[in-house]
Amino acid sequence: MTKQREPLRIAVFASGRGSNFEAILKNIKNGTVNAKVVAVISNKSSAGVLETARKENIPSFHLSDVHFNSLEEYTERLLQVLAEAKTELVVLAGYMKMVPPAIVRHYKYRMLNIHPALLPSFGGKGLYGHFVHEAVLEYGCKVSGVTVHMVDEEYDTGPPVMQKCVPVMEYDTPDTLAARVLVAEHEIYSTAIQLFAQDRIEIKGRKVVIKKWP
Ligand code: GAR
Repeated sequence: MTKQREPLRIAVFASGRGSNFEAILKNIKNGTVNAKVVAVISNKSSAGVLETARKENIPSFHLSDVHFNSLEEYTERLLQVLAEAKTELVVLAGYMKMVPPAIVRHYKYRMLNIHPALLPSFGGKGLYGHFVHEAVLEYGCKVSGVTVHMVDEEYDTGPPVMQKCVPVMEYDTPDTLAARVLVAEHEIYSTAIQLFAQDRIEIKGRKVVIKKWP
């Protein structure tokens, strides 16, 4: 039998309501994901995600670059929070800000993002949240989906870890498509985190290879 490791220590960055965060928490509680959320960080004081973290007694932090004198000070504080929490994996879950490059470098191959489309389509600066679904519908796509990917120093360009397709319906509006994609997001983000917890992620060149279990 394979020995279960200690729960993977994850820090979540989010800017909004935090439904992905809640889905991850649910899957940690029901034992599907062997992880522990050790910090929640938001750039928005009113973010639902901070409220949920407080209710769950998870250390939560409102940290925004506008409160710091320089990018260096802001970066240093973020690194301090992550280090004090003994973070093993950083999980961006609806985080609408660029993570400072020094942090991305520090957590290279240990930082994930979720994007509500099939990258490399419909990603990049300005394409986030509902803008993505609007663009997918405007283009006339018949499928969309979700991508969980490693974070690098650009927007949405890191290697994909998991992707899942979702059909686009004739009657879709950005909201109906977003809702369908969100169901897939809640499913695959936890799966991707569990792959880390099981140490099954391997990087080969630009590709993420998923090792067999056990
Ligand atoms: C999610 O759809 C996520 O994919 C998207 O923001 C939403 C956050 O929802 N992220 C991006 O667009 C990042 N480029 P949530 O707060 O309910 O998890």
